[in-house]
Amino acid sequence: MRTRLLVCSLFIATAAFVSGAMGVSIVACGGKPAPKEPLITETVSDAGPEDAAPPEPPKPKSLYERLGNKEGIAKVVDSFMKNLTANDIVKKRFAKLSKEKVEKFRNNLVDQICKESGGDCEYAGKSMKDAHKGMKITEPEWNATVSALKAALDENKVAENEQNDLIAAIAPMKDDIVEVKPKPKK
Ligand code: HEM
Repeated sequence: MRTRLLVCSLFIATAAFVSGAMGVSIVACGGKPAPKEPLITETVSDAGPEDAAPPEPPKPKSLYERLGNKEGIAKVVDSFMKNLTANDIVKKRFAKLSKEKVEKFRNNLVDQICKESGGDCEYAGKSMKDAHKGMKITEPEWNATVSALKAALDENKVAENEQNDLIAAIAPMKDDIVEVKPKPKK
């Protein structure tokens, strides 16, 4: 009995020392297991430093990028020119232009669409009002031109979203281009 008491006291002393150092209760003498306590009592946050900026959401692509940059725009403009010169309503407008004028028109159109869609381009041509002044362009000619552009976008497999965005960017030019307004219906 004395021996058991001694062993038990020695055990308690050791356990008390170890548990004190570790901050936990290890064992109770007399055969009973010590009540379980969680070993980890602190919550460590891994959120990083408090002043760290939240990650930036990905930047939405500009219409210019979605059209395939200048290369994609040039392809659409080439199809557009081909459609314009084949269209019965507007082809006469372009038939008399010199080769140099057609070339200039084509390059200005590429730069203009590039700039309007958010690309890093300079448009060095005339304003739409000055470029079409005195031509007496009509509403049906405007509609035929927009259809020729739409067909060019289809031919180059430009998605509907991008088509709508480009046509929306061009639509406000109508007032400066169309000089012959349709007569109001009585
Ligand atoms: C979709 C709308 C249109 C756009 C974005 C557009 C754009 C342009 C541009 C950028 C130029 C070149 C300007 C310069 O060289 O300084 C131009 C010239 C011209 N546009 Fe338009 N245009 C549009 C509609 C029309 C329409 C409806 C017609 C007639 C059917 C037309 C007939 C012409 C002609 C004939 C020229 C050449 C003028 C010349 O060099 O003597 N355009 N246009």
